[in-house]
Amino acid sequence: MRVPFADVGPALIPDDIADEDALMMTDALSTGYFGAQLGDIVEGDTVIVFGAGPVGLYAAKSSWLMGAGRVIVIDHLDYRLDLARRFAHAETYNFSDYDDIILEMKRATDYLGADVVIDAVGAEADGNFLQHVTASKFKMQGGSPIALNWAIDSARKGGNISVMGAYGPIFSAVKFGDAMNKGLTIRTNQAPVKRQWPRLFEHIRAGYLKPSDIITHRIPLEHIAEGYHIFSAKLDDCVKTVVVPNS
Ligand SMILES: NC(=O)c1ccc[n+]([C@@H]2O[C@H](COP(=O)([O-])OP(=O)(O)OC[C@H]3O[C@@H](n4cnc5c(N)ncnc54)[C@H](O)[C@@H]3O)[C@@H](O)[C@H]2O)c1
Repeated sequence: MRVPFADVGPALIPDDIADEDALMMTDALSTGYFGAQLGDIVEGDTVIVFGAGPVGLYAAKSSWLMGAGRVIVIDHLDYRLDLARRFAHAETYNFSDYDDIILEMKRATDYLGADVVIDAVGAEADGNFLQHVTASKFKMQGGSPIALNWAIDSARKGGNISVMGAYGPIFSAVKFGDAMNKGLTIRTNQAPVKRQWPRLFEHIRAGYLKPSDIITHRIPLEHIAEGYHIFSAKLDDCVKTVVVPNS
């Protein structure tokens, strides 16, 4: 096995941190936590998280740790929204149950909009046929920006948007003018994974966070192809898969 930058990337897992909890820190947990950090949450804020995948679930959970007064998670997969309620204690909305999820979010926030919105979906978003076709079929844009546009629409004037979802380098039809006119602050980045670890260790030790609670599948290494298919096609109510060597 070749480990690039082996003198930089790997780190020792402290004895009191379970392997599966540490594993979640190497990507999704650090990203979700960072997503909440970039939202600059102030005590009592209403936070909307688009996407109930691993990143969105951790962002929702982390929002409480940063003082949110209300956390709402939006997706269209009910089994993931169920986990958002159980793991992240969030209010949930299935966007396919509503003609207009933005209007529903306006209603849910006294027509003000949310203080902070986190995009934990990225360019592979569902929810808008035209965006989907122009992005993935005709390659006219670098992915569907519908989740980001919903984030812009559901934030209050002067609110914050944190974009953890990944987007392609080329132009997508983002409602930038609306973001400008609403005076939104938009922040985004690849997660600085290792920087989050000391704080995340503290949260785990204090019992505020049990990262492995979102793991739904443990796949033996010899069944990795089947496991990857289950994971990538979101079959069998899959949220997070762990590959277990020698199981
Ligand atoms: N910034 C970073 O450093 C970083 C690190 C890791 C992952 N990511 C990105 O974060 C995003 C989420 O990662 P994940 O592992 O949770 O992915 P995932 O595919 O498991 O979850 C995305 C969720 O969004 C839902 N969804 C689709 N369209 C939606 C819409 N319009 N509104 C609301 N929900 C919608 C899907 O049903 C799915 O549950 C991806 O784009 C990934 O590439 C970024």
